[in-house]
Parts: sequence; C-alpha cells; structure tokens
Amino acid sequence: MTFCMENLSPGDRYRILASLVTPRPIAWVTTQDSDGTLNAAPFSFFNVFGSNPPIVAFAPGNKDRHTPKDTARNIRENQEFVVHMVDEPLGQIMVDTSATLPHGQSELQNTELTTLPSQKIKVPRIAEAPVALECTEHSTLEIGANRLVIGIVHYVHVRDGLMDEKGYLQESSYFPLARMASPDWYARTRDQFEIPRPD
Ligand SMILES: Cc1cc2nc3c(=O)[nH]c(=O)nc-3n(C[C@H](O)[C@H](O)[C@H](O)COP(=O)(O)O)c2cc1C
Repeated sequence: MTFCMENLSPGDRYRILASLVTPRPIAWVTTQDSDGTLNAAPFSFFNVFGSNPPIVAFAPGNKDRHTPKDTARNIRENQEFVVHMVDEPLGQIMVDTSATLPHGQSELQNTELTTLPSQKIKVPRIAEAPVALECTEHSTLEIGANRLVIGIVHYVHVRDGLMDEKGYLQESSYFPLARMASPDWYARTRDQFEIPRPD
C-alpha cells in the first residue's frame, strides 16, 4: 500500500504519519503569557537534536492557518519554555492539559500539580515531572501551518534517584511514556533491552 501525500487532506496525512512514526517522546511544555498565566500542553512532534549546544525542537501546529496555539504564542512573546518528560503516573493529567482553554486560563488550575521556580527563566516547572528542561527559544520556523520551535536547553532537572552525578541512569528507574497511534494510543517503556555497538 502506498499513500501519495499530495492527494490527501491534512487530517488524513496527520493520521497516517502520526500513527506510523512511533514511538514518539512527549514534551509537556509550560509557558507563560504576558500576564503571568501558566500554560501547559503536550507535544509529541518533539525530540532532542544535539548537545553542542544542547537543542530540542517541538512542533505546535497552528489553530487555523495563521493563529498559533497558546504555547507558540507565549514563546513568541517571551522566548522561554520548560519541556517536561512524562511518566506513567502523569499520563492522564498530561492528556487533560491538552484541552483547549481560552488564552489566559491555565491548564494547571484545578489540578493537584505543583510548580517550582526555574533557575534561569521566569516560566516555572512542574515539580511532579521526572525531568524538566529549562529552555530559551533559539528560533521558530514557520512551514505552512506548522511551527517548529527550536530551543536551547540551559538546565536539566532530574527527579532524585533517577540518575547518578555523572548523568548515568540508575537501572530500572526511568520509564517515560511514548506516543503511539493517533489519536489516543500510548506505550509503556518497561520492556527495555541492550544491543551493544560493534566498536
Ligand atoms: C500526547 C499528545 C501529544 C500532542 N502533540 C501535539 C503536537 O505535537 N503538536 C500539536 O500541535 N498539538 C499536539 N497535541 C495537541 C495539543 O496538546 C493541544 O492542541 C493543546 O490544546 C495545545 O495547547 P495550547 O493552545 O495551550 O498551546 C498533542 C496532544 C496530546 C494529548
């Protein structure tokens, strides 16, 4: 079976690509608007793309052709965001924060989540997340209705007990959730194994 992307609607293209290019990590991103309202939303078009400098990128699609999602709008305003990784106990609450709220309302209100101040940026981080990456915007590419936000990572906060001082994971401690087929499938990452490289 072969799909010609040009002949498909954006919705069909999304379903096919998002269901096949899996598993994907999930960036749970906090940002702040100019009034200080904290915004949180998940993005699975996301990855780390280098370490020198340390960069991550994620892709908030526009709400319509020209209107950015709140996350992209806030980053355009103040160039700051925190990317959190999500593990299984946080799965439901992460999905809840994907609800579309009017600009100026926080997805974190009425949740049991707490926040901690960040080290370098004004946007706080979610205390319950196993990993939080404090980022500033490097640049944002606009490609049609897609935005690709590229960020520089300044601080990495890791839950106690996950990693040693040298940055090696403690065995059997970190099981981030993975995004699978569109719209609502996820995978656990408990079944891990090792394939040593040839040299
Ligand atoms: C697991 C998960 C992953 C998602 N990934 C993306 C994504 O990569 N890009 C995107 O535009 N929306 C994605 N969404 C939808 C956004 O989270 C949703 O549109 C959210 O309301 C955006 O919030 P904001 O307007 O506060 O930025 C995802 C939703 C879920 C539940």
